Amino acid sequence: MTLSFRDLKALGPSLRAEAARILRDALAHLPSAYGAPGAAEAEVAGRCSEDDWLGVAALRDGALVGWIGAIKTYDAGWEIHPLVVAPSHQHRGVGSALLAHLEARARGDGVLTLFLGSDDDYGGTNLFGQPLFPDVLAHAATVEATLRGHALTFYRKHGYRIVGLLPDVNGVGRPDILMAKSLASVR
Ligand SMILES: CC(C)(COP(=O)(O)OP(=O)(O)OC[C@H]1O[C@@H](n2cnc3c(N)ncnc32)[C@H](O)[C@@H]1OP(=O)(O)O)[C@@H](O)C(=O)NCCC(=O)NCCS
Repeated sequence: MTLSFRDLKALGPSLRAEAARILRDALAHLPSAYGAPGAAEAEVAGRCSEDDWLGVAALRDGALVGWIGAIKTYDAGWEIHPLVVAPSHQHRGVGSALLAHLEARARGDGVLTLFLGSDDDYGGTNLFGQPLFPDVLAHAATVEATLRGHALTFYRKHGYRIVGLLPDVNGVGRPDILMAKSLASVR
């Protein structure tokens, strides 16, 4: 069955509740994520009330299987936040399809750069536990996923590059990894 895409803000209460459940379950490996009671529901409700945020839901056979959001931070630069696929539907192309859908939408709106932060507060990369100051950019050039796996592998496959690190923003040795992709057709 093929995927269909819908505006997340237009979903009814039960599918919005499902979006919150997917957010919590997909990011359960991140200690800083949405594990607290009501946190995922508050994130979905809050984002849906923001004018500068858009969300796209992917449905298969009427069931929500993943969703992607973007914050319109700059005139020509949007931040992807978040991208989550239900654990039982991962590694079946849903995340790639959502990303392609958002990229097409962004291109259509004149966006030149998409960017995101992908935390490592669980040991998914070689940066975990490392002091990254003072030469932060030297560390940025060495980033690799560990055997635990990290979403940066997924984004790299789709043309995103590491453009920076925010050391210790999730606690000592727990950085955010900044990635970006050019949507400009000629460079
Ligand atoms: C990252 C995520 C959105 C990818 O969606 P998906 O539907 O599973 O991805 P796709 O099936 O389209 O693409 C799969 C490919 O991307 C890579 N990939 C996907 N998820 C990955 C992960 N967590 N770690 C490492 N590589 C991953 C793999 O190379 C995979 O290929 P494979 O299936 O042959 O192993 C999804 O796994 C997810 O929701 N993860 C948890 C939440 C998360 O980390 N979100 C990103 C936060 S910035």
